[in-house]
Amino acid sequence: MSKDLVFDYSHALGFMTKEELMAMEPAAAAAREKLVKKSGAGNDFVGWVDLPAEIDMEEYGRIKKAAAKIRSDSEYLVVIGIGGSYLGARAAIEFLCHSFYTLMGGTKILFAGNSVSTKYLADLLDVIGDSDFSVNVISKSGTTTEPAIAFRLFKEKMEQKYGREGAAKRIYATTDKKRGALKALADEEGYETYVVPDDIGGRYSVLTAVGLLPIAAAGCDTDALIEGFREMRELCMRESFVNNPAMLYAAARNVLYNKGKSVEVLANYEPSVHYIAEWWKQLYGESEGKDGKGIFPASIDLTTDLHSMGQYLQDGQRILLETVIEVGDTGREIICKEASVDTDGLNYLAGKNMDFVNKAAMNGTILAHVAGGVPVLKVSIKDNSAKTLGELFYFFEFACGVSGYILDVNPFNQPGVESYKKNMFALLGKPGYEELRASLMAAING
Ligand code: PA5
Repeated sequence: MSKDLVFDYSHALGFMTKEELMAMEPAAAAAREKLVKKSGAGNDFVGWVDLPAEIDMEEYGRIKKAAAKIRSDSEYLVVIGIGGSYLGARAAIEFLCHSFYTLMGGTKILFAGNSVSTKYLADLLDVIGDSDFSVNVISKSGTTTEPAIAFRLFKEKMEQKYGREGAAKRIYATTDKKRGALKALADEEGYETYVVPDDIGGRYSVLTAVGLLPIAAAGCDTDALIEGFREMRELCMRESFVNNPAMLYAAARNVLYNKGKSVEVLANYEPSVHYIAEWWKQLYGESEGKDGKGIFPASIDLTTDLHSMGQYLQDGQRILLETVIEVGDTGREIICKEASVDTDGLNYLAGKNMDFVNKAAMNGTILAHVAGGVPVLKVSIKDNSAKTLGELFYFFEFACGVSGYILDVNPFNQPGVESYKKNMFALLGKPGYEELRASLMAAING
């Protein structure tokens, strides 16, 4: 059992019995076997399973060097990527850094290429202005439209400011080892390049250069992050079922899914966890949502969303299961003080830590939701350190692989992501899409 991450299914036992959960053991064990032995569907994309033990130390050394250079010569690092090519880094940086770190000293990481919003990009260019900046463009395929458009803009801005040669020293490209438009451009321009391994898909890539370079450039402790991944991997390799939190989580969500709980809401009580939930939604949604199956992953930030989503959670359609992420020690403390006049009636909290209030909100909400018909699973993590985050990332990745195999889907492909791209290319007038364009235009114009 891990001391840093504890999985608790006790609040779901009114909705499934312990026997039902234990009856999942053979399916979970078979799923784990497929993952570990690389014998299941999509087995050419399970490089992430052993990655924590197989980090390319030469590349990792270059990542650390580049991060140090970026921190010494750039006020901003613009990370250009979408989906799996940015969510892990953003999740880690928002979790590990000061809540307002972009307003404080040091290199700030800003994200681009994860939408095609003109306003967002124009505003971002305004913010950078004449400041020194670097760019980390991340795209495994090298052809994804959103980051490719953003990269054109920032490449141009950088070449105007530093010249072509100077820009080449500030652009870091993370892409396929050999193929793709970005790799070709990087080689031509002489950019420092990092590899998205062939056998690791975007949503499982946070421990590759995809995540490590931006996370290191933000000043976070990547050694500790890797250590956390390693510890959780060892646990997942060593412990079977009852002592393996990832397998228990995978099993519990499948038992509940089979009982009609088709939406899983990941709830947090720390704003710093918001982007972990965004990363988690891609991980589970893209891995399991196929063949007409899969739990729909959603997320809420609490207590904030209790004031907007609370009614539905408590009383709406009973298709929900909730998974709470509890962060133990945030390393910060605020003690409630006694006021001379108790107009707001809060003096009864005098001497209590704010976190006591937050935990009371969490425990009260869990019990209310359970009473209202929502099974609650809980993932408690010890603190908000990089090591603990590494454990959490690997826990969710391993559980996702096991859960997908229990569900009998290929957790490592994403055929559905292509449909919108084809339509978008056709409507943009990309050569080769003329026929599709004609039929889409006919549909649009009625
Ligand atoms: O998980 C995935 O495969 C996707 O989210 C991709 O990461 C995303 O579409 C970006 O692709 P690429 O890195 O090829 O630009």
